Amino acid sequence: MGHLDGKTAVITGAGRGIGREIALLFAKEGARVVVNDLGTSVAGEGADTRPAEEVVEEIRAFGGEAIPDFGDVSDVDQAEALVRKALDAWGKLDILVNCAGILRDRMIFNMTPEEWDAVIRVHLRGTYATTRFASIHWRQARQGGRLINFTSGSGLFGAPGQPNYAAAKMGIWGFTLSCARALGRYGVTANSIAPGASTRMTDTVPPERRTNPGQAIRSDSAAGTERDPANVAVPLVYLASDAAWWVTGRCWGISGYRITLYSQIQPQIVLQGVRKWEVDELFERFPQVFGPAFPEFQQQAMPGSETARPAG
Ligand SMILES: NC(=O)c1ccc[n+]([C@@H]2O[C@H](COP(=O)([O-])OP(=O)(O)OC[C@H]3O[C@@H](n4cnc5c(N)ncnc54)[C@H](O)[C@@H]3O)[C@@H](O)[C@H]2O)c1
Repeated sequence: MGHLDGKTAVITGAGRGIGREIALLFAKEGARVVVNDLGTSVAGEGADTRPAEEVVEEIRAFGGEAIPDFGDVSDVDQAEALVRKALDAWGKLDILVNCAGILRDRMIFNMTPEEWDAVIRVHLRGTYATTRFASIHWRQARQGGRLINFTSGSGLFGAPGQPNYAAAKMGIWGFTLSCARALGRYGVTANSIAPGASTRMTDTVPPERRTNPGQAIRSDSAAGTERDPANVAVPLVYLASDAAWWVTGRCWGISGYRITLYSQIQPQIVLQGVRKWEVDELFERFPQVFGPAFPEFQQQAMPGSETARPAG
């Protein structure tokens, strides 16, 4: 008995990296899978049918059921055709995993509009487009569904050299929350995943920007280690299964053997006025009330000084 027996899934970006491992494991767990991949470079250039074809062949080799799809998820017509492929073949769609992604890293002061648009388009528009057509089915069929969207620590924690990617990935998190609230009444759960695994994508990170020692492992030697993208796929079987009906509107970190539930955004300190603030009044109250939450402020504030003055 597989945990996903009888389920059907669309997985985007499933020709390589993390998406590939999700497709293989979901199929081993009994799901019928549409393996989508444009077969593009990390920067989103070019196209190749082989990555998706090879994953489908691997699935069929162990007796699983899979169909390839070579569409660009950020093209709305191709995203619709992708969802339709699952519906035409199997009559329903239970699980959508939006994993496709590209990078065009640049500091904000050097980033061109093209670099900005390309990354926003694949991640944000791509996630919207597939979800839109899946949600039309979920709303009509009323048999529930599972939406799993890939965000990133680069957005959650603000990687300095990835303003386009950080914006797209935080956009995906907001989008996921919205979908969780909108689709819950149809039995659909929606969760975001911030993964960590060595893939060709992380191979592009320069050594000085790697924040943990595990990131030194390159994708070609990651198999069987903590950085193996196959590790990320395992908790997703749970989230995609019927057992996870209660897990929705949450952001999860899944990296190596560690699963992290992130806290939801909530007010930290509130300064409530009773009328429009006077500017001078706020110059006094603002640092008094919010300053204690900022270690930098406390370190800089000199006894008797009016406000903190950052050095340099
Ligand atoms: N690897 C990590 O540590 C890490 C960290 C944070 C977030 N992520 C996210 O996880 C997801 C998977 O990343 P990965 O590391 O496996 O990267 P990867 O480059 O190995 O795989 C991404 C796949 O997406 C496909 N793709 C790109 N654009 C597409 C499009 N328009 N339509 C369809 N397919 C397209 C590519 O061809 C590729 O096969 C991405 O969303 C990425 O942003 C990864």
